[in-house]
Amino acid sequence: MRVMRTLMLWLLPVILLCSFCSVAFWIFLSNNNVIPQPSSRIPQKSSETKSCKGCSKDNVLIAKALENYSHKWKRHEANFKKFRSLLSSKCHAVSKAVVTQNNTPLGSNVIYDGERRKPLQVTQALFNILAKEQPFGNATWESCAVVGNGGILANSSCGEEINSAQFVIRCNLPPLDNRYEKDVGNKTNLVTANPSILHEKYSGLMERRRPFVESLRPYGQALLLLPAFSYGHNTPVSLRAFYTLEDFGSNNLLPIFLNPEYLRRLSKFWRERGLNSVRPSTGLIMASLALEICSNVHLYGFWPFNKHPNDSRPITNHYYDDRESKKNVHSMPTEFEHLLKLHKQGVIRIHLGECQPTHS
Ligand SMILES: *[C@@H]1O[C@H](CO)[C@@H](O)[C@H](O)[C@H]1NC(C)=O
Ligand SMILES: *[C@@H]1O[C@H](CO)[C@@H](O)[C@H](O)[C@H]1NC(C)=O
Ligand SMILES: *[C@@H]1O[C@H](CO)[C@@H](O)[C@H](O)[C@H]1NC(C)=O
Ligand SMILES: *[C@@H]1O[C@H](CO)[C@@H](O)[C@H](O)[C@H]1NC(C)=O
Ligand SMILES: *[C@@H]1O[C@H](CO)[C@@H](O)[C@H](O)[C@H]1NC(C)=O
Repeated sequence: MRVMRTLMLWLLPVILLCSFCSVAFWIFLSNNNVIPQPSSRIPQKSSETKSCKGCSKDNVLIAKALENYSHKWKRHEANFKKFRSLLSSKCHAVSKAVVTQNNTPLGSNVIYDGERRKPLQVTQALFNILAKEQPFGNATWESCAVVGNGGILANSSCGEEINSAQFVIRCNLPPLDNRYEKDVGNKTNLVTANPSILHEKYSGLMERRRPFVESLRPYGQALLLLPAFSYGHNTPVSLRAFYTLEDFGSNNLLPIFLNPEYLRRLSKFWRERGLNSVRPSTGLIMASLALEICSNVHLYGFWPFNKHPNDSRPITNHYYDDRESKKNVHSMPTEFEHLLKLHKQGVIRIHLGECQPTHS
């Protein structure tokens, strides 16, 4: 008995650690991964910065980032076209971003992007619930707003401006109630839902499912993008989300599945540009998608520091809470650097700080 107990005492943490590691990645990719990250991690590129506690190091990094930021942004048509054609030649978001009956035939294999050795065969049942055709049409939207969930959106008054975009993309089922509407708007055309939030907020849809369905009302008729095929263990909960919407006859949201092949291509694209994280965050994935389907891409709520760029006042991790992000994410500031570069080149527009009231 004693031996067993001792063994268990040793084994349990190991088991916990292992299962933590496997989910940690998705946790990282989910609620916390929407670009903004606590700046506490940013200075840790060099270890000696540890001695510098909440001091000017952040300010130096912020100042450096802002060097390449201009409030007076100007679109550069040639740069935009060049970047977009490069991106679409490598990633093909329009035909590949979503798993469809077209790009994923019956009997073929879906290769999990984080677990390549255990493919999922497309059975008739799975095939039947795939989108018949890719949901973006051949439409190029005139303007898209990609809304990250960063604390920089709090008190930004950007809601009206965000709503004015033709296509609004949001990440990981963010709250849109009237506490936030002024800052983040209420229009949604696409919203992502990562497996971890389905587990955390809705008990993995193993219990009552009505709260889940009701909480989706604010997103109207948006596409609900489920990254179901990154890891095998993500599939069941994502399918439960799909079936829940179907069973409740909720014909508002249209659930679709993110294509792991697109994710693989996109990771490669950004890796080749020096982003050496395992894979891009949801924020970067959505910004990349937008660059292929929209003529004007605006980013809101992307800012990976915990001080406001204008006046250095502290800002929270998300516009709706201050939940700490998991570690393992030093790609965030690097991702932001890449986006800033595109901002500087007139390809994508990052909005920091307050929005001006629009009068149209
Ligand atoms: C700002 O732009 C310069 C020149 O393009 C680049 O070398 C530098 O790395 C950029 N800095 C940041 C923080 O993005
Ligand atoms: C896509 O383009 C084709 C040919 O240009 C057109 O017939 C079709 O209606 C378009 N589909 C969408 C969804 O816009
Ligand atoms: C957004 O808010 C406006 C004004 O409060 C309202 O008229 C509109 O229906 C809302 N839109 C959505 C998608 O909830
Ligand atoms: C932030 O800076 C921009 C540009 O300088 C300015 O328009 C805006 O009013 C500032 N906002 C705050 C809160 O200081
Ligand atoms: C936003 O404004 C409210 C009310 O003025 C204030 O209490 C809050 O601290 C502000 N939040 C941020 C992140 O500046």
